[in-house]
Amino acid sequence: MRKLVIYGGAFLLTVACAALVVVLLASTFLGQWARRDVELRSRLIFNSIHDSLNLALQSGAPGNVVGLFERVSQDDRMLAIGYCDASGSMRYLSKTMPKDFSCAEAERAQRQGPFTEDIDGRHIHVAVFPVTGAGGATGNLVLLHDLTYAQKRVARAETYLAIILGIIILVSGALATAVIVLSIGGWVRGLRQSIVNVQSGHDVERTMKTLGPLGEELRDVLRQMALSGNAIDGERVSWTTDTLRQVMTENLPGAEVLVVSNREPYIHNHAEDGVDLQIPASGLVSALEPVMRACGGTWIAHGSGDADRETVDKDDRLLVPPSDPSYTLRRVWLTDEEQDGYYYGLANEGLWPLCHIAFVQPNFRESDWQAYKTVNERFADAVAREAESDAPIVLIQDYHFGLLPRMVRERLPNATIITFWHIPWPNSETFGIFPWKEEIIDGLLGSSILGFHTQFHCNNFLETVDRFVESRIDREAASVTLRGEETFIRPYPISIEWPPAALARQAPVPDCRANVRRRLRLAPDVKLAVGIERFDYTKGIVDRMQAIDSFLANHPEWLGRFVFVQAAAPSRSKLPAYRHLQEEAERLTREVNAKYGTPDWQPIRLVVRHHGPDEVFELFRAADICLVSSLHDGMNLVAKEFIAARDDEEGVLILSNFAGAARELSEAIIGNPYDPHAMGEAIQRALDMPVAEQRERMRLMREQVSSRNVYRWAGRMLVNASQLRKRQHLLSLTESSEPGGYSI
Ligand code: G6P
Repeated sequence: MRKLVIYGGAFLLTVACAALVVVLLASTFLGQWARRDVELRSRLIFNSIHDSLNLALQSGAPGNVVGLFERVSQDDRMLAIGYCDASGSMRYLSKTMPKDFSCAEAERAQRQGPFTEDIDGRHIHVAVFPVTGAGGATGNLVLLHDLTYAQKRVARAETYLAIILGIIILVSGALATAVIVLSIGGWVRGLRQSIVNVQSGHDVERTMKTLGPLGEELRDVLRQMALSGNAIDGERVSWTTDTLRQVMTENLPGAEVLVVSNREPYIHNHAEDGVDLQIPASGLVSALEPVMRACGGTWIAHGSGDADRETVDKDDRLLVPPSDPSYTLRRVWLTDEEQDGYYYGLANEGLWPLCHIAFVQPNFRESDWQAYKTVNERFADAVAREAESDAPIVLIQDYHFGLLPRMVRERLPNATIITFWHIPWPNSETFGIFPWKEEIIDGLLGSSILGFHTQFHCNNFLETVDRFVESRIDREAASVTLRGEETFIRPYPISIEWPPAALARQAPVPDCRANVRRRLRLAPDVKLAVGIERFDYTKGIVDRMQAIDSFLANHPEWLGRFVFVQAAAPSRSKLPAYRHLQEEAERLTREVNAKYGTPDWQPIRLVVRHHGPDEVFELFRAADICLVSSLHDGMNLVAKEFIAARDDEEGVLILSNFAGAARELSEAIIGNPYDPHAMGEAIQRALDMPVAEQRERMRLMREQVSSRNVYRWAGRMLVNASQLRKRQHLLSLTESSEPGGYSI
């Protein structure tokens, strides 16, 4: 508004200056016009009396000449008239001739032409005309006119003009102000509201509409602000599918997105009554699937279902989700030997235990490494074949593809490659035992951006690079430059879609509780704790059962009043470590149940089968406690799904200190899963927690998960990708190949 006042003031000043110029020009013009009028009159008078004057002069009677002069000088504007003879003396003059006026001045007028002069306080016009008789020039006739009247007329005209212009300026100023206040005022309010909304991240699109057609450019700037503000801290924008689509259309217009993961989002398996469609139990899939639904593109993954080949087209593609096709799934086929070496061997017996440090010794076999390389090549070829442009955005997922970024870079040098490592990255000492560490690091550094869940894992990776690979590490920009190419290392904490699709299909919490409790045949006073995950040794399932043993031993008042349901999806069962885990969990379940149970009550129920999202959410909504006690976890999305499921804001989350999620969900009861006694006490605390406290904690955690959802995870990576592409484009324009000159 202050600027508006300044602009208004400047406008009025300009108009006033223009008015002043008009007044000055007008008065000059009026003055000149009056002078010319008098000059004309003087000549007319001279012409009209010339002959009479000659006759009067020839008569030699001075009275004739003076009489003539007196008659002429009676005209109002004529002041005086005189006759200078050839010798330069004033021979005849009217009575009104000023005393100080002499023939010398008449000579000046003869030389220069008529002039004006102030005499006796009057503005006098002096004109001189030669008088010629029969014998030639005899003298000069001097005519003096009083121009004071003209001066007064000009002054009056100036005053009127100034008054009229003043009125015009005031009226136009008032009108302009009214127009500005009425039309711009609303626009300014809209702009201000838009900026406030951009800052708070609320309803940005709707308020931008209030800017009207004038705001086209401003809208673009505000949108950019919204998106890049979000790239900077990610807190101020409410991330939804729409925001993500907006990131794509505005920051990466026309960009092609290719996702690569080992696990496919939809698996077709033969069933008794035809073909069954399964959504796998995978944190990676539950995070990426909603992102792909929002962005579209192609997801390249291993076709692992036994009916997968029957459901693709001739190019091994199909549109998914089947109910609402929004992106393409491209399946890649592997032989059983390849699957054994690459997936079970190198990925799950080598890298998985190595990175998780869960005290299961990793196995490294040369043949597995060869299979890993072959399969990474296979996927690189698939990426190159699926890419329709030379610069797609390729999102490579997880530890199955440590070599793929470099292989894709070789095939598509202009691609923007973002690799996300979904599991922890251990300290450099631990990673040092991996026999092909240099190759994996080199492979990963083919990425434009390499992401981990936490800053801690980024730091571990940088330390590992520092220790094993000759490269340039820029710790301020958090980047590694290898052979002239820079890779940015960034934390992007993964999350879930918000609100989760499965939640929309759920009954109200009391109904879910009633259904589950009826199915489990729980007595009304029994509290229910749940654990839901893949049967994996990193999840701490056995340790959790030991914690329950400790809890029941130390708090016998809960005997008969506490049930723990462990839903465990069979996973990687071909591997001995997984089979042993299942056997151990089953043995411990039997042992604890035998120790404390009665014919009517068993404290632990182990359900080993795949649970679909609807079942999982129902169980979460029915539970009093959710136990997430991973021994080590990159993030852990089960914890976030439990929170998302609890729209009644009740229930307690017990969370391992060694899950990445503990960095974000500090209102959970955080515990050490290796310590059964401490975890048992955490269960006791959770059971004793008043509902008001549960609500307060749950509310805070729900705020956290809803704002830091999976759209933010993907959006921040894509915004960074777009920044990188823009800067690389700029660098190519300036032909500078110097790496490290910018950051994202
Ligand atoms: C973890 C990994 C994923 C994997 C998931 C399920 O979350 O990070 O890449 O998909 O486990 O494991 P699976 O071997 O069944 O794909």
